[in-house]
This record gives sequence, structure tokens and C-alpha cells, in this order.
Amino acid sequence: MKMSCYIIEGGRKLQGEVTVSGSKNASLPIIAATILNKGITKLYNVPNIHDTQITLEILKYLGCKVKKHRNKIEINSKNITKKEIPEHLMNQMRSTVILAGAILGRFKEATFSYPGGCDIGARPIDLHLSAFKKLGINISENSGFITCKCDKIIGSNIDLDFPSVGATENIILASVFAEGTTQITNAAMEPEIVDLVKCLNKMGAKIEGAGTNIITIKGVQQLKDIGYSIMQDRIEAGTLLCAAAITEGNITLNYRTPEHITPILNKLEEAGCQVSVQKGKVLLSAPRRLKAVDIKTMPYPGFPTDMQSVLASSLTVAKGTSMIIENIFENRYRYVPELKKMGAKITIEGKTAVIKGVKKLSGAKVKSTDLRGGASLVLAGLAARGTTTVTNIEYILRGYENLEQKLTELGAKIIKKEGD
Ligand code: UD1
Repeated sequence: MKMSCYIIEGGRKLQGEVTVSGSKNASLPIIAATILNKGITKLYNVPNIHDTQITLEILKYLGCKVKKHRNKIEINSKNITKKEIPEHLMNQMRSTVILAGAILGRFKEATFSYPGGCDIGARPIDLHLSAFKKLGINISENSGFITCKCDKIIGSNIDLDFPSVGATENIILASVFAEGTTQITNAAMEPEIVDLVKCLNKMGAKIEGAGTNIITIKGVQQLKDIGYSIMQDRIEAGTLLCAAAITEGNITLNYRTPEHITPILNKLEEAGCQVSVQKGKVLLSAPRRLKAVDIKTMPYPGFPTDMQSVLASSLTVAKGTSMIIENIFENRYRYVPELKKMGAKITIEGKTAVIKGVKKLSGAKVKSTDLRGGASLVLAGLAARGTTTVTNIEYILRGYENLEQKLTELGAKIIKKEGD
């Protein structure tokens, strides 16, 4: 299979207004949550991207009926007949593991293989599995498949060794119908968890504390049919702002939750951008040249790991030396050799990257290595002198809805060439 590519003519300042799509990382667990409702759930503002498509494919395989019209989907989960996630779909993305919690919550049984997804480090699922055990679920492994089974799920206190986003979501999904109360301590506090819980509570679940590090789930008997609109994507918002920053641009984002991107806005301001937040909008005006800043990735409300490569890309042309520390995932610097082909000056040692700002990048043929790393190459291409070809953009299409249309609306020259 030949992969698709973006061809970008660099050097145009981004200008104009653009609307941020629905959140990828909120959509995935919320689509999984619809498995728990033995009826119909309507979801709005679901981004039309590869990762949501795969998740819906799995739901159809399980027996759900899915109707889709643009960003609205209707899922009928009444007649689910299967309790296993097929390996070929599981392999396509890591977050399919979230479906295990939802299937378990409904049927007390689920089978799946080790999850796939972007290769950005070890990404184990030990925290998910040990939490399942605490809920009274038996786990057995057989030739790469994991089967989880129990007579009933029993509410329990689960203290996470690390505030894992996926494990927190999986525990919530598995505990909605549990007997008694589940309490998660050291829970992840990401806005996507708050969105999942808002949706589940609208369906009739009893969950408190989302957005803090202690989440309490009181088991209920059943859920009800609802409609829910997914929050906007904070990483897409940050990516578009960084695209404006690297091109000396001036853009307005239609984005209603600027509080989700505070650490990103703070770093962009520190780098010399003028940022203002108005009702439903975020405005950014970039300086002639950005200033170097240091970044340390942390769980929310710290600087998000998903923005590390994207901001790093903008800093390749900043004045001075920036230092980045990646604390969440190992192996999240695979985009660096590609940026170097464009003239970036970056050295890596362990989890630290040091970026010595250059005046200008030059266009080159570069290859996406993962979703956010791929986005960082697109940004570099927008600012570079000459033409940049970003190959293997299937990674980027997993998580950004209509990226090239949005950038084109803002004045970029970018076209997508489909592979075969
Ligand atoms: C989610 C996001 C991803 C983001 C990440 C961190 C989705 C679909 N993906 O991924 O975009 O980059 O949060 O904000 O929402 N870990 C373990 N054992 C486990 C689980 C995780 O050691 O059982 C480790 C991971 O290897 C990693 C860290 O914990 O080093 C964070 O992972 P986690 O928060 O679980 O990320 P995801 O839910 O996979």
C-alpha cells in the first residue's frame, strides 16, 4: 500500500478564523460508553477521523447498529452479540483497550489482544489489568489474547501508581454497573475524562469527582437513551495556534474551552505571541520571531505530551535555545531526525531535547512517524523555505479532522496526494 502525502509550499503567514473540531480523545471513550446503554445514544460533534471510524467498526462487529451523518452518530447497542474485539481492528489503535472496560461493564466478560496504535514507547496496559483484578475480574492470557471474566463486578478502592488516562477511563466504564462503590485515587484529571463522565451521568450513571484526582463511581442498574455533544479538541486547538506561531501569523480560533489549553497559551505567550481570549474565541498574533522557551510534559493540568512535538517544531525557528523534557512517553522524539532534514538543530539525550533556534527551515521530503510527530512536520513545512513533502500522513489522519482544509482556509498552500 502506498501511503498518502501532503505537499506544502512554505512561507505563508496563517491568517483568518477557523473552528476547532470535536475531541478525538473524548470521542473514543464516549463511543465505548454507548455499549453500556441497552438502547440508542446520539452523539454530536464526533470528529470524522480514522480512529473514530475504527472504534465504530468494532462496535458494528459487536452487533451495534451505527448510523452516521457528518459529525452526528446514532448508536443502537440493544443487540450486542459478541464480547471479543477482533485482533485486526485492535491492532490499529491503542485506545481500543477502552472498549474492554465497557464490554466488561455490560457483560462481565471481554476478550481482546494487546492493543496497537502509534509506536511512541512501551505503552503497557498493566494498570488497566491490575485495576480490573481489583474489581473482582479474573484475567487469563492465551496465545496473545486476554480474557477478562467474572460473575459480578464489585466496587473497590483503586489507587493508580500513575494517573493513566486510559486506565482511569477503563475503571469508570467497568464500574458503572458494579455492585457498590468504586473509588479511584490518583485518577487522571484530563478534560476528556470530565467529558466522558458528563456523558455517562447524563445517561444515568452516578459518578463524582471527575477533573480531580479522586473519582467515585456508585453502581447503578441501568442507563437511558440520551444525546450528547463531544467537547472540542484541545490538541487540535494547540496545533493550529502553533501553526500560526511558526508562520508569524494572526488567527482566531472558534474554541469554547480555552481553560483546557492554559499551559499551551502560557508557553505561546512566553514565546512572544499575543494571546487573547474572548467569548468562544482565542486570538493569537505571532511576533516576527518567536523566543525560545522550555517545556516539561506532565499529566493534566501540566503541559500535554501530545503538544510536545508540535510546540517543539515552532521552537526550531525561535531565537535562542529551548529545552524540552518528555516525562510521559519514552520514544516520543522520533520526529526529530525528520525535522533535522529541514535544517532544525536539535540534540537529544534521554528524555531531554535541546533545540537551538535557526533563522529559517528549508523544505525537504520527510516522513511522519506518529500522529503528533507528523503534525509537527506539517507545521515545519508551513514555515520552511520552498516545498516540503510529508509522507505517511495516514498517521496524521488518525487524529486531525480536515487538517489541510483548515490550514488552506487560513491561507496555507497544502495539498493532499492520496496513496493507492
Ligand atoms: C491518552 C491519550 C494520548 C495521550 C496520553 C497522555 C487517548 C486515546 N490517548 O493515552 O493521546 O498522549 O493519554 O496524556 O486518550 N502506562 C503504564 N501502564 C498502563 C497504562 C499507562 O505504564 O497500564 C504509562 C504509559 O506507558 C505512559 C503513561 O502511563 O508512559 C501515560 O499513559 P496513559 O495516560 O495511560 O495514556 P493513554 O491513555 O494511552
